[in-house]
Amino acid sequence: MSKMTLERILQSQGFGTRKWCAGRVAAGEVRIDGQIVTDPRRVFETDGLEFSVYEEPWRYRAHVYIALHKPADYECSRKPSHHPGVLSLLPEQFALRDVQPVGRLDHDTTGLLLMSDDGAFIHQQSSPKHHVPKVYVATTHEPVTPQLVAQLLQGVKLQDEPAPLSAVLCEQLGAHQLKIVLEQGKYHQVKRMLAAAGNHCTALCRTQIGELKLDELALAEGEWCYLDEAARALLRPGV
Ligand code: URA
Repeated sequence: MSKMTLERILQSQGFGTRKWCAGRVAAGEVRIDGQIVTDPRRVFETDGLEFSVYEEPWRYRAHVYIALHKPADYECSRKPSHHPGVLSLLPEQFALRDVQPVGRLDHDTTGLLLMSDDGAFIHQQSSPKHHVPKVYVATTHEPVTPQLVAQLLQGVKLQDEPAPLSAVLCEQLGAHQLKIVLEQGKYHQVKRMLAAAGNHCTALCRTQIGELKLDELALAEGEWCYLDEAARALLRPGV
């Protein structure tokens, strides 16, 4: 249980500075349980608090945990240079409360991207010790062969990596498509592994992290949803 003034509540949810939030409250733009509240200093219990700003409904969340179906041509970087950033696909409040991608997908990679403003969650999910398998579907330029699959399972040597890197699972899905499951998240890992095995990745989609499956979230490209505790439990190792 935690109590906060209304101006602080709005600020914590990414609506702007405390002063700006106080101004919106005083101007009658904020409702709690459907009733306009004009005192920015009025204190509310934050747990489960529902409010609206400019008629738009919101629920107080101490942290947000988000799954985004990332489209191609969006960058995960905080300062995107050639394409729009993934944060532009979310409500602007999320950027103000410092929501960030958990790890990165390349600008041309599509699929499941986690985002959050919970530093501990981001750290834990990004840690190399956190052995959660990530599932990718890769489209290849050259046909997929049993030798390619065997090589990716045995391990391939990448430049600047001391030891060969291998897939924990790899299977052919089509003449030019394979499923590859990795436990590490090295820079451009799938593309570099395919290149090292003599092929070339022409399209890449991350379809699953741990037991959290993109198709079960039913998100079209560019859509996002909140992840509740049960969904987040699917991201733990050994689920
Ligand atoms: N491997 C890659 O090569 N690119 C990604 O975006 C993710 C994994």
